[in-house]
Order: sequence, then C-alpha cells, then structure tokens
Amino acid sequence: MILVTGGAGYIGSHTCVALLQAGYEVLVLDNFCNSKPESLQRVSVITGKSVVLVQGDVRDRSVLREVFKQYVIDGVIHFAGLKAVGESMEQPLRYYDNNVSGSVILAEVMAEFGINMLVFSSSATVYGDPASLPIREDFPLGATNPYGGSKLMVEQIYTDLAQSDGVWRIALLRYFNPVGAHLSGTIGEDPSGIPNNLMPYISQVAVGRREQLTVFGNDYPTVDGTGVRDYIHVMDLAEGHVKALAWLQNQVGVHVFNLGTGHGYSVLEMVKAFEFASGRPVKYQIAPRRAGDIAEVYADSLKAERELGWKAERDIKDMCRDTWNWQKQNPLGYVD
Ligand code: NAD
Ligand code: UFG
Repeated sequence: MILVTGGAGYIGSHTCVALLQAGYEVLVLDNFCNSKPESLQRVSVITGKSVVLVQGDVRDRSVLREVFKQYVIDGVIHFAGLKAVGESMEQPLRYYDNNVSGSVILAEVMAEFGINMLVFSSSATVYGDPASLPIREDFPLGATNPYGGSKLMVEQIYTDLAQSDGVWRIALLRYFNPVGAHLSGTIGEDPSGIPNNLMPYISQVAVGRREQLTVFGNDYPTVDGTGVRDYIHVMDLAEGHVKALAWLQNQVGVHVFNLGTGHGYSVLEMVKAFEFASGRPVKYQIAPRRAGDIAEVYADSLKAERELGWKAERDIKDMCRDTWNWQKQNPLGYVD
C-alpha cells in the first residue's frame, strides 16, 4: 500500500487515479486545508476502487504512527504542502512549518517504522532564473521566495538523509507547470478564491466566473512578449509518479528528475489554445509584469525519459480540452 500525503489535492487526486489503475492500494493522509474529500469520492468512481482516507496533518506524529502501525506501507508519495508564492511571502513561518517541518516529521516517523521509499513534490521554482534553456537537473539552484525556499530546504534535507543512511530510496520530482484534468472531467484543479495561476484563471473567464484575464507583462524577450512556461498535463505528471515509484524499488540514494514536456508556451498562446478548445472567448487586458516572474522556463526532461522510461504524452490541445471539460462540468469546483 502507498501512503499519499496531500492526496485529496489537485496533483494528489490525479496520482491516486494513476496508482489505483496501476494496481496499487492507496491510503491518503490529508488535513483538507486546501481540498475537499469529494475529490477522493470521485477518484473511486473513476477507478471503481476505493482509497483509504485518514484525515490528519502530516506534522502530527501520532497520526503517522497510527497509519504505519495499522497498514503495511511500502512507500510514500509526499504532496502535502502549501503552494502559493505570494502567500508564502506574507506568512513565511507558516510555509516553513508546514512544508519543511512536515517533511522532516514524515521522514522521522518513516525511519521509526523502517519505511524508506519516498517520492517528494519539488518544483521548477528551485532553479530561480535560469541562465540558459532548457533547464537540466544539474543547473544551479536558488530560491526567490519562502515557498521556493521550503522546496529547496526539503530537497537538501532529504539529500542529507539519503547520504547518512544507504537504505533510503528517494525521488525528488521537480514539476514544471501542471495543468489539465482527468479525461472524465470529474476531478480537476479547484483553487480557493481568486486563482493565482494562469490556467485556472483562463478557464474561469471562459466559463463566465471572472470578467477578464490580466496578462502580466508583454515586454518580455519572448515570442510575443508574454511569459513562457512548460505546461504539463496533470495525468502525465501523475503517471510520472507511478513510474518513479516502480523505478525506486531497484535503487538506493536520492535522485532528481525534471517533469516537464520540453516545450514552452506563452500566455497569449495559452489563451488562443483555450479559446479554440472551449469555443468561448477569453477576454484579457495587458498589465505590468508581476513581481518575481521570469521571462521563460522550460524543462529538459531527458533524464526522466532515459531512467524512468517516462515522457509526457499529452499536448496543449489535450490540456485545454480537459481543463475545459472539468470547468464546464464543475463551474464552481467541488461543491458540497
Ligand atoms: P494542492 O493544494 O491541491 O494539494 C496539496 C494537498 O495537501 C491539499 O489536499 C492539502 O489539503 C494538503 N495539505 C497541505 N498541508 C498539509 C498538511 N500539513 N497535512 C496534511 N495535508 C496537507 O496542491 P497541488 O497543486 O496538488 O500540489 C501538490 C504538491 O506539489 C505541493 O507540495 C506543491 O508544492 C507541489 N507543486 C505544485 C505545483 C503546482 O503548480 N500545482 C508545482 C510544483 C510543485
Ligand atoms: N500569468 C498571467 N496572468 C495571470 C496568471 C499568470 O499573465 O493571472 C502569467 C505569469 O506571468 C506567467 C505565466 O502566466 O508568465 C504562468 O504563471 P503561473 O502563475 O500559472 O505559474 P508560474 O510559472 O508563475 O508558477 C507556477 C507555480 C509555482 C511553481 C512554478 C514552477 O505557481 O508554485 O509554477 O513549478 F513553483
């Protein structure tokens, strides 16, 4: 059985689908600070299999101990964390406590129970502003905000841990920009409040929930002046976790992988692709750059292809089609 922390969230719920379909049993530990149990009920409908759900906090040793005592856990995928960059600048201690302390406590309790296989959600944000593109795993690292700092610290902590004791098998997965939804449109990204990220914002404009998109800057040195990112379909990302877990069975040590497509798209290219997929106009206005944003980011994911046998299969049309399918079926997200 695989313990999935934060498994009710956006990437976690899609990964639960991929794990169940690959034949794994799944236990989710989530405190629902940014998700609802409804997502897991829908995971069960999609797969015809159920997930064991424990409501609790990854910083709570007693809950973790109960889980490890009661179930035979073979490995852990650790998604539980806070992820809003702006919020992390206002509440750095909350971010370090949740993301860093949570990751330390999880590993401590895993060690107590002799569980040593761990997949960790890192982020392309650990590369800061890269000197060249595409970004390879051996590029210099640097954080520009507490959220990125928390990811970088956990990477370092898990690297030190793996070096201190050869039994650990740890994959640090650096995601680029996850978008899209399960093909059924029954699970997807459900941000609370005003979305920070581009794709959910675009889809809420298309569905009529927001009036217009604000494009942050059109004076970057990119194809059309707007920011370029490596958007990756969340089901491709989910399948990457399943591949990483299978691969770790025969490894020891700590291993880092970029998970991206290798292609960058600009904000305006995303708007056009979404208008095409949805048949709806996406109104936008150009505004100044957003503080902290960089011009262009895309991954070199050849290491994951070579070692994990993983490659993103879904393209921008699939990403927009599936986001729209989710958005139009669930205009207000998961409602109770
Ligand atoms: P999400 O907020 O949808 O999912 C995170 C889940 O973790 C939520 O269900 C939340 O309730 C839970 N959680 C948070 N803190 C917890 C705690 N202390 N104990 C138990 N549960 C807790 O976010 P997501 O987009 O699915 O991201 C998952 C992971 O991937 C996060 O660690 C995030 O930092 C990382 N990541 C996300 C992106 C992205 O753009 N979505 C990019 C790179 C990395
Ligand atoms: N953008 C807009 N308008 C919006 C939102 C975004 O123009 O309303 C632009 C941004 O300026 C950027 C692009 O769309 O050029 C993508 O922005 P996102 O906020 O969707 O994504 P980021 O690349 O800024 O950051 C995301 C996550 C981070 C993570 C990073 C790398 O939010 O947590 O990807 O994985 F670290």
